[in-house]
Amino acid sequence: MPETTQSSLLREEFNRWAEAGRGEGMEQDHLPITLPVLEKMQLAPTDNILDVGCGSGWLSRRLAKLVPQGRVVGMDVSDEMIRHARRASVEFDNLMFVAGEVAQIPWQPHFFSHIISVESSYYWPDPAAGIKDIFRVLRDGGSAWILINYYRDNPHCHQWGSLLAVPTHLFSGEEWSGLFLDAGFTNVTCAIPIAGGLHWPLVQGRGATERVQGRRRAAHSRRERIKQVAVSGPV
Ligand SMILES: C[S@@+](CC[C@H](N)C(=O)[O-])C[C@H]1O[C@@H](n2cnc3c(N)ncnc32)[C@H](O)[C@@H]1O
Repeated sequence: MPETTQSSLLREEFNRWAEAGRGEGMEQDHLPITLPVLEKMQLAPTDNILDVGCGSGWLSRRLAKLVPQGRVVGMDVSDEMIRHARRASVEFDNLMFVAGEVAQIPWQPHFFSHIISVESSYYWPDPAAGIKDIFRVLRDGGSAWILINYYRDNPHCHQWGSLLAVPTHLFSGEEWSGLFLDAGFTNVTCAIPIAGGLHWPLVQGRGATERVQGRRRAAHSRRERIKQVAVSGPV
């Protein structure tokens, strides 16, 4: 299926989610995997942050409070999600929302110090292209984080794909890490701890990456580079 058609499908599906109020409901479900990462990001008050696939914007608003002298941009392929996010964020003056597709982020290169995406990347029509564009808009030394519960190493999630109305990618942690390395990231790590939860799957995945000044491309072959990725099993 051409990418533009897939993006239209995603827009229509997530517009339906937004109209049904599902955007707001996701905060409670996704907060447990997000809070530990917010601590690890070590945000400074002046940071500029992009929230990719921001949905109704709960995380963008939380981030905006953490960077009062910086700027937060929430971006989503669903214009209806963006409408909900804007409506709930009128009191913020360091936060804006834009409709857009991750493979074509409507922003200038090297702007963001941190980029985060929660439970969105497995929907992206071309995850490799999305991660490349994230790399483009990330400043040197910045970090990008993808948080997902739906990935191959998590046996609890394998049936979800067939329940969704849009195509998904069930990649392993190592495959996600490989996409980051291919995009030019260095210091790629993937951690898969078990998180407790009553109604949420017991496993969380995280791909944390850091771009280091002057080391935009690792010199090693892809196979050698992947050996540097620390993928820890469930703990
Ligand atoms: C499961 S929701 C998660 C929303 C939000 N991150 C949260 O935690 O509440 C996935 C979101 O990713 C967005 N999305 C899916 N594919 C996208 C793409 N290719 N580009 C940008 N956003 C996308 C959807 O529109 C949807 O709002």
